[in-house]
Amino acid sequence: MRHLLGIAGLPAEDIDHLMVLTDSFAEVGRRRMPKVPALQGRTVTWLFYEDSTRTRLSFEQAAKRLSANTLSFSVSTSSVRKGESLRDTVETIEAMGVDCIVVRHRSAGVPHQIARWVSASVVNAGDGWHEHPTQALLDCYTIREHLGGLDGLRIAIVGDVKHSRVARSDAWAFTTMGAEVTLVAPPTLLPPSTEGWPVRVSHDLDATLGDVDVVYLLRMQQERMTEALIPSLREYTACYGLTRRRVDLLGEKAIVMHPGPMNRGVEIAADVAALPRSVVIDQVRNGVAVRMAVLFELLGSGREEGDR
Ligand code: CP
Repeated sequence: MRHLLGIAGLPAEDIDHLMVLTDSFAEVGRRRMPKVPALQGRTVTWLFYEDSTRTRLSFEQAAKRLSANTLSFSVSTSSVRKGESLRDTVETIEAMGVDCIVVRHRSAGVPHQIARWVSASVVNAGDGWHEHPTQALLDCYTIREHLGGLDGLRIAIVGDVKHSRVARSDAWAFTTMGAEVTLVAPPTLLPPSTEGWPVRVSHDLDATLGDVDVVYLLRMQQERMTEALIPSLREYTACYGLTRRRVDLLGEKAIVMHPGPMNRGVEIAADVAALPRSVVIDQVRNGVAVRMAVLFELLGSGREEGDR
């Protein structure tokens, strides 16, 4: 693997391999000194054109735990503000000697474009509404941790699917690993067509909850909505919010997931987020180990400079 640009097309064996690698890095994270020399001499940088807390910080933590050098870059204080183009920016950064560029951008396809311009490895940390592959990997890992694996599970992905790169990556990852995925949303928050997606669709959350092992809530992405797609947030919550009443419809072992940041009181009630079956904090914790596995797979594993 040279880049990680998306989940669609990634075979189950590759996802399995990354899960097993994550097990060993999760063990490193539990040590008193959670650091290994695996990426000594390598340099990782991040290029985030959109805001982030979890992804940005967990990549930084992952790189440091692998002993990589980290080159910190902030778009908001860089020459991007003076109009420097994306291509000039990435070529400038690469000229300083980086081995991996982690990129988040509001436009779909930007990480793929950067991968064509540079010889460094590129990781997609979220591109528009397209993909967020490391989120899908940490979600698979968290489900595997709590429920033993994904094969045969029934998973509902609920909410603003239309604007969600997480929904796309998760749908591919979960089904590749043998789960059955149902998208649950009002018609206005679904993509114009789900043809080609390996999913079922429902508009009725109450009717779905009793049959699922995982309910995966999506954030209402109001910053991406250019038109009124729902009558009001209050009405959305009444039909699609995970309230205490709805949690009682879930099976005893079903878990609740959310990629964060959560809109408490909208897609998830505050008291539901605090329940033991809510594994949101485990998702964040696992994000570090999964991203260590991805960086190691791209830059370690005996790869030498001449291989790239
Ligand atoms: N889940 C996720 O991508 O969160 P951030 O936007 O905080 O990185």
